[in-house]
Amino acid sequence: EFHLAPKAVAFQSDGPFGTFDRQQLQRGFQVYKEVCAACHGINLVAFRNLADLGYSEAEVKAIAEQWQIEVPTINPDTGEADTRPALASDRFPHPYANEVAGRAANNNAFPPDLSLITKARAGGPEYIYSLLTGYRNPPAELPEANRPGTGLYYNPYFANLNIAMPPPLTADGQVTYADGTNATIDQMAKDVSAFLIWTAEPNLESRHRTGLAVLIFLLIATVLAYMSYRNIWATAK
Ligand code: HEM
Repeated sequence: EFHLAPKAVAFQSDGPFGTFDRQQLQRGFQVYKEVCAACHGINLVAFRNLADLGYSEAEVKAIAEQWQIEVPTINPDTGEADTRPALASDRFPHPYANEVAGRAANNNAFPPDLSLITKARAGGPEYIYSLLTGYRNPPAELPEANRPGTGLYYNPYFANLNIAMPPPLTADGQVTYADGTNATIDQMAKDVSAFLIWTAEPNLESRHRTGLAVLIFLLIATVLAYMSYRNIWATAK
């Protein structure tokens, strides 16, 4: 068996009290924007949601303007749909007009929308991290893997070992982080995985806080119930 289980990676959002590391989410967004967005959408996220990551209203507006949204008129010169710059209220558009176009550009494989990918794949963010850092030469026992010209890449973390996605993170320093963090492949893979935890569950922190409040309430309620039980039966022999 050549398939590998995801590597163990720790994220600040792990566990019942986990919170988001907003600096990391901003770095992960930068990786998404500069690398993944060429092929993958995050269509369940609106640009204004980026305010959660700590961006100001003006920054959100400036980010949105880097994407184009199709409008329902046709450019008479090109025959293509007209576009306008995205607004904060728009959602991230799909990078391809439709699945056929997406497959045509990717060796007949379709790059899935990444909004919910950390929930949709077993192993979640650890799987994403492992996939991004897991490309390697196929083992000698598998001579048929990675045949030149197949357009498939050997990756033992991918379910069928050969993935149509070319290694997206190939060099340290591929992005230049705004916060000065050293952009090693490992760091970029972790950061974009953390970002994709957020896209899939932006309300994780309030869920954790609510859960804690509920547990404290139940604890107090249990103590009170026990004390009233003792009180009610105090005189009974
Ligand atoms: C598939 C993440 C960049 C093309 C995937 C999958 C993930 C992913 C999680 C799903 C794997 C699965 O089904 O289990 C990322 C991330 C990227 C990135 C985080 C940026 C760091 C790219 C780029 C391209 C691309 C730049 C295009 C050049 C594809 C394709 C698939 C895919 C074609 C489908 C693969 C298959 O089913 O064989 N990617 N991706 N990805 N990605 Fe990416």
